[in-house]
Amino acid sequence: MTVAQPVFPHKHLLGIQELKPADITTILDLADIYVEQNRQTNKRKSILKGMTQINLFFENSTRTRMSFELAGKRLGADVINMSVSTSSIKKGETLLDTALTINAMHPDLLVMRHGNSGAVKLLSEKVSGAVLNAGDGSHEHPTQALLDALTIRRRKGRLHGLIVAICGDILHSRVARSNILLLHAMGARVRVVAPSTLLPVDVDRLGVEVFHDMKAGLKDCDIVMMLRLQLERMQGAFLPSVREYFTLYGLDLDKLSAAKPDALIMHPGPMNRGVEIDTAVADDIHRSLIQEQVEMGVAVRMACLDLLTRHARENGPAVTGGAS
Ligand code: NCD
Repeated sequence: MTVAQPVFPHKHLLGIQELKPADITTILDLADIYVEQNRQTNKRKSILKGMTQINLFFENSTRTRMSFELAGKRLGADVINMSVSTSSIKKGETLLDTALTINAMHPDLLVMRHGNSGAVKLLSEKVSGAVLNAGDGSHEHPTQALLDALTIRRRKGRLHGLIVAICGDILHSRVARSNILLLHAMGARVRVVAPSTLLPVDVDRLGVEVFHDMKAGLKDCDIVMMLRLQLERMQGAFLPSVREYFTLYGLDLDKLSAAKPDALIMHPGPMNRGVEIDTAVADDIHRSLIQEQVEMGVAVRMACLDLLTRHARENGPAVTGGAS
């Protein structure tokens, strides 16, 4: 007798690193269905009815936190946002003690963003529900890479064979890391364009083509993905000045002219106009996908919440924590 494989063989979503190309395709295909549902007047489904989702954001967020909240609510879950600034974390409670406290309330889904790389994995080892990484330090931000992939796939019809240039603060960017892993897994060619101070020392190990000049890096590319300068993660001098950074690395129409004529522009947000991107480019309704990325974010997160709860919905909740 052959045992049927589960549609999605993971308990948690900690990083793109753990996903196979087939898992990525499963998420994107399901997200396509949720995009359509989210465009209807009635956006509500009840597949997560009775389930509890807790969002724990230790770092600031607009898009990711709101879209995880909307995603859970549109699938019928009870969603709670723990406010870190008014929680007992401020009284000195450790992350692990907070995790055990939350676990005792039996959440089925825990969405966490934390400033330390690896903190989300640690949480997943201590709780019974499914854990989703909403960004851990400069390590991974899997749902961002998935929503970016969905946006690209819907516009270009594929990921395979595309040339994607990721530009700016690669060093501190979990978005860049997750995107590089995903795009490589799906057969795209990835370039990074940045000053050497904003590249990791082991950049060669990422398997990307490295450029220090924007026009050279953007030449003939299909997608230009801009990144914010993560000043909050920088200690010391990484740049001579923001003005010089914009002159050399800010995306404007002149630099963009090196890319393919139908190249599309992306940015995970929040963007700093006049720092990494010029307003004329960011607001170009024909080429900028920035608002579309936000829309895709809700659908991708619904797909992830759906897939990660399928096992529990069919077989009942897990009793102990475990790895993905
Ligand atoms: C990114 C993040 O938090 O990693 N933003 C996001 O999730 N949309 C990128 C950033 O903060 O620059």
